[in-house]
Amino acid sequence: MKRVLLASLLTLAMVPTSYAASAKCGETPLAEIMGDMKKTMKSLKPALAKGQADEIAQLAGKLESLAEKSIDYIPLKISETKQLNPKQKAQFTKYQEGMKKLASVAKELASAKDDKTRKDLAKQIGKINKQGHRAFKMKCD
Ligand code: HEM
Repeated sequence: MKRVLLASLLTLAMVPTSYAASAKCGETPLAEIMGDMKKTMKSLKPALAKGQADEIAQLAGKLESLAEKSIDYIPLKISETKQLNPKQKAQFTKYQEGMKKLASVAKELASAKDDKTRKDLAKQIGKINKQGHRAFKMKCD
């Protein structure tokens, strides 16, 4: 009986460790930042439609800082750990370039002076988002 008890205690003690070892798709710190990006984009749409310059500038600034923050996170699709082989390193550099592009277009949007320029830049952001996801976002099941 004592043995059974000890064995179950050991098993229980091991459960949290094995969970912590693998990062979960959709629940990474990067996915969390992406959730904030999504909210920011959601608010940006009506602001663009109404031409609310101050609101757009504030939201674009937020998007820029979220992109800056994302630069140091390794997408799950590339690796679960910080140890990268040469191929993964090259992929990560591409990812970082995409994120830098997002930050720089968001910065341009924050200081854009007319509606047409703002809408064109927002379109570019949409494209960068699509390209980034096609290349680096893992599909969760
Ligand atoms: C306005 C631009 C963007 C928005 C609104 C956005 C939004 C999102 C959302 C909603 C998710 C899912 C998060 C979840 O599963 O809870 C996600 C995941 C992800 N996105 Fe974006 N995203 C944007 C730009 C980008 C760009 C430019 C890249 C790459 C250069 C990128 C790379 C990724 C990756 C890698 C994931 C998976 C997270 C992980 O691997 O940990 N995203 N994004």
